[in-house]
Amino acid sequence: MKKIDVKLTDSSYPIFIGSGIFAKLRGLLEKYELNKNIMFIVDEKVMEFHNKKILNEFYSYKGKMSCYVVKQGEKSKSYTELNKIYSFLLEKNYGRDSLIIAIGGGVTGDLAGFAAATYMRGIQLVHVPTTLLAMVDSSIGGKTGINFEAKKNMVGAFYQPKLVLIDTDFIETLPEREITSGMGEVIKCTYMADRKFFKYVQENIEKAYKNDGKVLSWFIYEAAAIKAAVVSQDEKEAGLRKILNLGHTFAHSFETNLKFKIKHGEAVIAGLISALYLSQKTGLISEKDLDYYLSLPLKVKLPAQIKKPPMEDLFKVMLHDKKNREGKIKFVLVAGPGKIVLDAEADKKAVSYAISRMRQTIG
Ligand SMILES: NC(=O)c1ccc[n+]([C@@H]2O[C@H](COP(=O)([O-])OP(=O)(O)OC[C@H]3O[C@@H](n4cnc5c(N)ncnc54)[C@H](O)[C@@H]3O)[C@@H](O)[C@H]2O)c1
Repeated sequence: MKKIDVKLTDSSYPIFIGSGIFAKLRGLLEKYELNKNIMFIVDEKVMEFHNKKILNEFYSYKGKMSCYVVKQGEKSKSYTELNKIYSFLLEKNYGRDSLIIAIGGGVTGDLAGFAAATYMRGIQLVHVPTTLLAMVDSSIGGKTGINFEAKKNMVGAFYQPKLVLIDTDFIETLPEREITSGMGEVIKCTYMADRKFFKYVQENIEKAYKNDGKVLSWFIYEAAAIKAAVVSQDEKEAGLRKILNLGHTFAHSFETNLKFKIKHGEAVIAGLISALYLSQKTGLISEKDLDYYLSLPLKVKLPAQIKKPPMEDLFKVMLHDKKNREGKIKFVLVAGPGKIVLDAEADKKAVSYAISRMRQTIG
């Protein structure tokens, strides 16, 4: 079992990564002296595929324990669902000495995390991410929240878990498109690391899709370590944490224009390809580097819909991005291995060029 530490001023916590380590959860709860009154908040699909594993681990548990199942899908990140969780906690008499254990993808983690952040002014939280995206991204860093009036993550809080347990075996039941969803974040992290990680992912990505545990564990460990290091230096996104937005200005616009009918990771990969073209167009990287960097994201099959939204509609969303000031679009771009440029401004012509080239190259 590997361990990464997220080092924060008041609320540092460990991330454990390994195959089959769900069986160590009870021991870890004891070791870290966490509250014994447990409320599991579990994704519906995870319950369907992994209920035995969860029940076995807590079979003879002596403390208070109940389980709330969250319906799969983004719709569950809602005020209605949050209300149901508060009612459930109250009905079962959970007090301040309780612990929420979120077992699921980013939807379950964000929702359960916000419930933990707000119920009785905050109760303890543990994340057990079960999608690749949640393992490398959403379970680390303390962002929690729900959607409101069709706007994503409108209401939320920064709230750190007490620990994160990543059992890579959960991935065995994950559909292929969900692997791609997480792969977007893994690929993004390769540009933040040295060439070694990029090369490893480029050479082994096909194995990850074939559920090779060793390869997946390595991807997850490296990407989670990058996110943990960034969050440790900038907990509340005051500066450095913006590097995690690489490819995301484009991605957010693709997703919004396609009414979230494509997977987040698919949008991120298209966003990374566009950001690489823009990096080259603005002189940050050479044509030779561009070809090298593109060789990884181009290995992933992307849906043809990404080519559909009209350029003007894409610009509309990019201009409304909360990161932008005074009508200028700001991008996070690549300048070399591990060299990321924040707040890069580019003119409309260069941005259109980058998107058009992305659309041509993805085939
Ligand atoms: N908090 C953050 O920092 C952060 C970062 C990125 C994304 N997010 C949020 O994360 C959400 C997306 O998360 P996601 O991609 O994990 O989606 P998700 O939680 O909707 O899970 C995707 C699908 O996989 C299923 N699933 C989960 N685990 C499974 C398993 N082991 N086997 C089979 N099926 C399984 C779910 O039922 C669901 O159908 C979005 O709401 C996004 O806003 C949050």
